[in-house]
Amino acid sequence: MANIIQSLQHFTKFESFDLGNQLIEQALIYKENPTLDNTKGVGKRIGCIFLNPSLRTRVSTQLAALNLGMEPIVLNMDKEGWALEMHAGVVMNRGTVEHIKDAAAVLGSYFDILAIRAFPSLTNKEEDTSDFVFSQFVKYSGIPVISLESAIRHPLQSLADQITIRENWSGKKKPKVVLTWGPHIKAIPHAVANSFAEWTLGMNHELTITHPTGYELDEEFTKGATIEYNQNKALEGADFVYVKNWSSFNDYGKIISTDPSWMLTENHFAQAQDAKVMHCLPVRRNLELSDEILDGRRSLVQQQAKNRIFAAQSVISHLLGQ
Ligand code: CP
Repeated sequence: MANIIQSLQHFTKFESFDLGNQLIEQALIYKENPTLDNTKGVGKRIGCIFLNPSLRTRVSTQLAALNLGMEPIVLNMDKEGWALEMHAGVVMNRGTVEHIKDAAAVLGSYFDILAIRAFPSLTNKEEDTSDFVFSQFVKYSGIPVISLESAIRHPLQSLADQITIRENWSGKKKPKVVLTWGPHIKAIPHAVANSFAEWTLGMNHELTITHPTGYELDEEFTKGATIEYNQNKALEGADFVYVKNWSSFNDYGKIISTDPSWMLTENHFAQAQDAKVMHCLPVRRNLELSDEILDGRRSLVQQQAKNRIFAAQSVISHLLGQ
């Protein structure tokens, strides 16, 4: 077990360089020996509550809990649970059946840790940016909560991404990390991009963000990054290139470009011969990112996905304590 330098109540965002480093180191220990702490969670249960679809987050979190001897129980709240009312004081005479106050308190009494996925509406900017839905679970459950992706952050993905960067970087200088927007046909949340920026800057890497005009992210997450609107210029000398689509933040939730020239192909890497390419998955092939990149020597996407297990294991282990 890596030395504990900070104790978390919940895992919802980047906290500090030292804690990030500690979680990365612990994850790498678990990757070497997944069953090292396989009695730590015996007799305890984690509830994984999904208000939205998932492949990686759902399965990797369950595997992480099982590696620690903990029992995971998954509830697909969007399909199997009652329709939840999130607002206080309303007369519930419309579509919602159960208030979050009651549902979260019940879940808090059933589990030792709660893990929640709650995407943004992309229509109500004020509620989304305050992480309103996710915060209701934290407020009313009364137990430690892990974010499985909220309206504004995806910290388990970002931890897995930082583990992957650590595994692939042996250079003495800081790596140059580039976050590039990629085209998409749907309005996509900002959570992965926000969190990747937050963690990359927090772990003291150099970060350049590139996107078409109008796709500026919330400055709360990008302060300290270089914003470069010319993608080719941004890619010059890159060591890691993280590809992600997101919808407009300023013109909230809108698609304002689908320009296919932003999709990375080998032609984009003339000035970044050794750059590695990352994506959180799922990815729309040949729309957001080309087959030749995804299937080629640069791609770290499968390594990132595998590291989701050990990121979650490190976090659950931390919340379980010594
Ligand atoms: N990257 C990620 O969170 O994948 P899922 O949406 O499949 O969980």
